[in-house]
Amino acid sequence: MKYSKDLIKPEDFPKGFLWGGATAANQYEGAYMEDGKLPSVADVQPHGVFGYPDRNAKYYPTHGGIDFYHHWQEDISEFGEMGFNVYRTSVAWTRLFPTGEEEEPNELGLQFYDQVFKTCREKGMEVMVTISHYEMPLHLADKYGGWKSRKMIDFYTKFVKTMVERWHGVVKYWLTFNEIGNNIHKMEWMTAGIDPKTSTLNDVYQASHHQFVASSLAVKIIHEIDPEAKVGSVIEYKTIYPMSCDPKDSIVVLKEKQRGYFFSDVQVRGQYPGYAWEYFKENDINIEYTDEDMAIIKQYPVDFLSFTYYRSRIASKDYVESVQKETNTSDKEIHGDTAYRGDDNIVNTGKTNPYLKLTPSGWSIDPDGLYLALVDLYDRYQVPIFVAENGLGIKETLVNGTVNDTYRMEYLRDHVIAMQNAIKDGVDLFGYAWWGPIDIVSNGSGQMSKRYGFIYVDRNDAGEGTLKRYRKQSFYYYKKLIASNGRDLTIPE
Ligand code: BG6
Repeated sequence: MKYSKDLIKPEDFPKGFLWGGATAANQYEGAYMEDGKLPSVADVQPHGVFGYPDRNAKYYPTHGGIDFYHHWQEDISEFGEMGFNVYRTSVAWTRLFPTGEEEEPNELGLQFYDQVFKTCREKGMEVMVTISHYEMPLHLADKYGGWKSRKMIDFYTKFVKTMVERWHGVVKYWLTFNEIGNNIHKMEWMTAGIDPKTSTLNDVYQASHHQFVASSLAVKIIHEIDPEAKVGSVIEYKTIYPMSCDPKDSIVVLKEKQRGYFFSDVQVRGQYPGYAWEYFKENDINIEYTDEDMAIIKQYPVDFLSFTYYRSRIASKDYVESVQKETNTSDKEIHGDTAYRGDDNIVNTGKTNPYLKLTPSGWSIDPDGLYLALVDLYDRYQVPIFVAENGLGIKETLVNGTVNDTYRMEYLRDHVIAMQNAIKDGVDLFGYAWWGPIDIVSNGSGQMSKRYGFIYVDRNDAGEGTLKRYRKQSFYYYKKLIASNGRDLTIPE
């Protein structure tokens, strides 16, 4: 993954840089009960509901997704046409182990991914598998309380071993958990199968601990079976600016960032950082762990770090204090779910950043924030970095069989420039995956109308439509950009 600076011009991306896209099975595949599959935690989250299950709703967008299950040949072919040399996706755990408890995997589930991965390779794409992307078996959440239970480690490692035995030499990159942990505060159900209505902060950190052990064991298993494969962690990176130059605002920023760093610190550095123990003490968190757990975490860190980046946030001490007062809560709740209520762009401030434009759904557009993230993470860890997700989700209408999405090209161009600048600074960045290269179901809102794709899909928020795919204008832009290895960024008139 290292590259020699002598071989490239400063403005170039390294030779072999990975360009592609990322999806998740539950948001894409549909066919949620086909060929032996059973529901995952995502399949009981209805349209318009975020972060908790509701089993009596009328419509669940993940059930149909955009039916990749029956359109995979066409879609992979389109990704190949754009020139992708990497495709990141998850394997639906419930296709292989429908309840999670079966001794033997479901052969039909394995066969589905056999053909998808083989076709990716034939089209010149490396396959990067997210082992768990918000879609653990519903049965395990219901029966064991999700990742609160230590038993999850065994179910997960069986799932990992099955995949690596089947796809060693085919899948080169593995990511152990999507956005491990730092989303667990606001999405306990999706990330860990914990019902937020009854959970405590202790449960959240206990679940995280089990995921850390499971992740390290995944590194061990993957390396033993396939020494060539690389294993990474995915965090949700938060670029956060202090609201003012009051040092207390910068401390709030640091504390907020530590909630995220915690997960990469453990996975990359192999140990719990001091500030985490202090946080546990302050918040009466007592997790159960063994010396052997800590030894496993130490011995099997990840090979590389990846992160998702969409936008930046601002934070201030005043806002934290006002919410504390208003809700009569302690620090632990402020830094938990409370901080995310309302407009999700506005973490801890109640205000938007006046220097940045917002998307219609209220997310800031901040390519400099990506540059800052890359430099920060590389300085902190000195391991190869991969951008696991980045993208712009917006309502769009098809006109004459296409979408003239210049705004998406501009977003992409500016974030590519941010990556170039980080590479010039010496960041060992080896790839980039656009989130949702084809329109898929939104994780946060269940909408189809929050469209990220270079390819438009005829399906609406009620699940109606022909599912026909149409190339947007950005399809050709990304294709040109990839063909020039990130040098041709000119947006057509
Ligand atoms: C990331 C998740 O946090 O954000 C994806 O890994 C998700 O699953 C993406 O789809 C974009 O968020 P949303 O809510 O617009 O789908």
